[in-house]
Amino acid sequence: MCGIIGYTGAEAAVDVLVTGLKRLEYRGYDSAGVALELGSTGESSRTIDVVRCVGKVAGLEDELAARHAAATCGIGHTRWATHGRPSVENAHPHVSCDGKIAVVHNGIIENFAELREELTAKGHHFRSETDTEVFAHLIEEAYPHHLSEPRPLVAAVREACTYVVGAYGLAAVCADEPGVIAVARKDSPIVIGRGERGSHVASDVIALIDATRDVVVLEDGQFACLTPEGVEFTDDCGHVIEPEVTHIDWDIDMAEKGGYPDFMMKEICEQPRVVRDTLVGRLAPTGELDIDELGLTYEQLDVIDRVYVIACGTSFHAGLIAKNLIEGWARIPCEVEAASEFRYRNPIITPSTLVVAVSQSGETADTLAAIRDARIKGAKVFGITNVVGSPVARESDGVIYTKANKEIAVASTKSFIGQVVSLTLLALLLGQVKGKLTTAQVRMLFHELGDTAEQIQWVLDTQKEAVHEAALACKDARSALFVGRGMGAAISNEGALKLKEISYLHAEAYAAGEMKHGPIALIDPGFPVIAVATKSPTYDKTVSNLKECEARGARIIAVATVGDEDIRKVADHVIYVPAVRDALSPITATVPLQLLAREVAILRGCDVDQPRNLAKSVTVE
Ligand code: AGP
Repeated sequence: MCGIIGYTGAEAAVDVLVTGLKRLEYRGYDSAGVALELGSTGESSRTIDVVRCVGKVAGLEDELAARHAAATCGIGHTRWATHGRPSVENAHPHVSCDGKIAVVHNGIIENFAELREELTAKGHHFRSETDTEVFAHLIEEAYPHHLSEPRPLVAAVREACTYVVGAYGLAAVCADEPGVIAVARKDSPIVIGRGERGSHVASDVIALIDATRDVVVLEDGQFACLTPEGVEFTDDCGHVIEPEVTHIDWDIDMAEKGGYPDFMMKEICEQPRVVRDTLVGRLAPTGELDIDELGLTYEQLDVIDRVYVIACGTSFHAGLIAKNLIEGWARIPCEVEAASEFRYRNPIITPSTLVVAVSQSGETADTLAAIRDARIKGAKVFGITNVVGSPVARESDGVIYTKANKEIAVASTKSFIGQVVSLTLLALLLGQVKGKLTTAQVRMLFHELGDTAEQIQWVLDTQKEAVHEAALACKDARSALFVGRGMGAAISNEGALKLKEISYLHAEAYAAGEMKHGPIALIDPGFPVIAVATKSPTYDKTVSNLKECEARGARIIAVATVGDEDIRKVADHVIYVPAVRDALSPITATVPLQLLAREVAILRGCDVDQPRNLAKSVTVE
């Protein structure tokens, strides 16, 4: 996933582009670049100056020269390499042979190899290993065909897109059309907005929210022509269209660190608000759950006889928790599938199958593809996502938006909690519709769900020292095991992933009862075993598994229920959480695991917000 941006107007484009690119860095940060139009106003043609660097956007600023300050139109890009290693040659923007056309692109061109071959045969000379450069040459090839049209560049971009198979959020400029930015979208996010002093395009609202909070989320197959005076939207036949304008109800402060040392800590501390906001207005005075964006009738839900939760990474772990709740409360068989596997195996799907797609970004390629497969096979699809208008939301019959707001740290935390709360709501609803839960039970569980906000706050306010001590015990380890039973086993997976992705310490999660069937062989003196051992029907079993680890010298860190002093007999370090019903325990017990991973990463000198080799979500298959 990459970040693209464009601006044309009265301001210095380089300032707008660099500020926006820094905000898009969560999407990818191995190289960056801008293309700026140079030359005086009123000239019929200008020159395109491309500046690129390997590494973060800050490095780009060093490459920029005084002459660039005069530019009032340009495009920019921050990259997460898919085709071609991070290098200046492979960094975007890419230009045509004549240097007059420059493009930035987020997405994947699946048929780039054959297009490259065809264009090379026509005399085009390629300078990079990327798929994207194909766009620059395709537009160059098409441009002469459209010189008689009012907007040749947009028309050439539209023609170029007809040859491309894959996903793209694309912006292009042309020296012969000063001040014009042509934009195209298919399966990659594009938002467009008019500020007081110009027109803006970006992969994410966050890059243009300073200029406006009224944006157009471009749909697949739509195009836009940005000029300093305005924006014209067209469809894939070139007909002018009037897309819907969306008002953004959050501001830039929410996208800044707000005094926290890093975005991950800020977002962990936002989780009590996320629980409250995700539950606002969800319980009617009658005790009925109210999910207005459900998109499915109670009759349609009542016939559901199988549920698949499909997702990737952290979202997959939210699914593991949902399985216990949907089977426990609604008595519907529920399977949790990695989307990258689900789409290639032939799952049993009928019209009474509900596929729940969970995705923070709403644009993860495997999850999207799995949704499409499931729909073709007749399933009802329900999306749980954090991004309004994202592809997962648009391609689902119904959706619940997690009210986590913008999540910037690559390691998901608050969106995970938002997902677990939303999936708990869905399980309650299915239980209510299926008549397995009475209105009184739904009301009681709903209020207990609401109480988890305060319980998270208690952990944040009281367990800092315990987390730090536990992190000191892990920081020099080469590997760690996370164990638990039932809900504890489900969230152990999330604990292990968080530790892996931000501290680069190998970690595995195991059902505690499975330890004696192999993994216990890993344990030698000092080996960290992190256990979710909150009070639950299997608490005693978990403690006896920990004793097996202790007997082999493991260093045991336990997440336990406040007031449980016995656990100290087997654990070296204890991080406490308030007492809560086992079914809801993942919401509070995950927080110590998030905090522990962050603390270990910091003690190991890692960048917790932008870990190596990772991007916020993965739009490549
Ligand atoms: C989690 O911290 C990671 N960022 C990653 O595993 C992520 O959960 C996964 O890529 C799925 O992303 P999504 O929820 O946006 O679909």
